Amino acid sequence: MAAQTSGENPPVKPNVATMTPPARSPAMLNDRSTLLNYLKTRRSGRPRDMIEPGPDEAQLAEIIEIAARTPDHGKLFPWRFVIVPKARRDNFAELLRQAFEGDAPINDERKLEAVERIARQAPALVVVMSTPIASHKVPVWEQELSAGAACMNMLHGAHAFGFVGGWISGWPAYSEHVRNAFGGSHERIAGLMFIGTPSFPLEERPRPVASMISTVWSGPASG
Ligand SMILES: Cc1cc2nc3c(=O)[nH]c(=O)nc-3n(C[C@H](O)[C@H](O)[C@H](O)COP(=O)(O)O)c2cc1C
Repeated sequence: MAAQTSGENPPVKPNVATMTPPARSPAMLNDRSTLLNYLKTRRSGRPRDMIEPGPDEAQLAEIIEIAARTPDHGKLFPWRFVIVPKARRDNFAELLRQAFEGDAPINDERKLEAVERIARQAPALVVVMSTPIASHKVPVWEQELSAGAACMNMLHGAHAFGFVGGWISGWPAYSEHVRNAFGGSHERIAGLMFIGTPSFPLEERPRPVASMISTVWSGPASG
């Protein structure tokens, strides 16, 4: 399909169901044979399906260094990384449980176990904090975009080592109780970044075809 040329109206977003997923077998995903092949086959893993091995301390430090090599307007580095080590996963599980329960204890052990599983899944966990400076001339929007880009780069770093990463928000990223355990009120959780080895072959997901999501601008609408 040829790229659309845009006229007066913005292009209508096509329905994902109408898009053709590229033919990538599980074995072809995260193909690290060349940089281009990797970028064309990149695929996240599901944190709950991640098993050992995960990155060791030195590898995780390098992954964070890669994540920190992210564009940001004004050299503000409006993000930071909080490693939740294995020795603190139980504390994290307890934190999520408290956040989930709030002031009203939940007597559903299965639900609480599911909450705790979030905290214990995958060999490695890094919480990426968005730390914008509200008073700065660089808009907060741009600073937050940069935090998202840092999360993306963390996935690339994890994949470069042959691991798989998974970027999750879910309710914990929006819980004040959880946020307060990681940072101040001016900060937000940009992502819970899980890293490990997939226990199942990764499956491709639908991807938009470039021609359906790109247009060639034809200039400002006249009249
Ligand atoms: C900001 C953000 C938050 C996300 N939160 C969740 C989540 O809570 N649960 C989930 O299943 N997927 C979540 N995802 C989706 C996965 O991380 C991932 O993008 C998706 O599975 C496809 O990834 P891929 O394009 O790397 O294969 C989130 C993605 C982003 C960008």
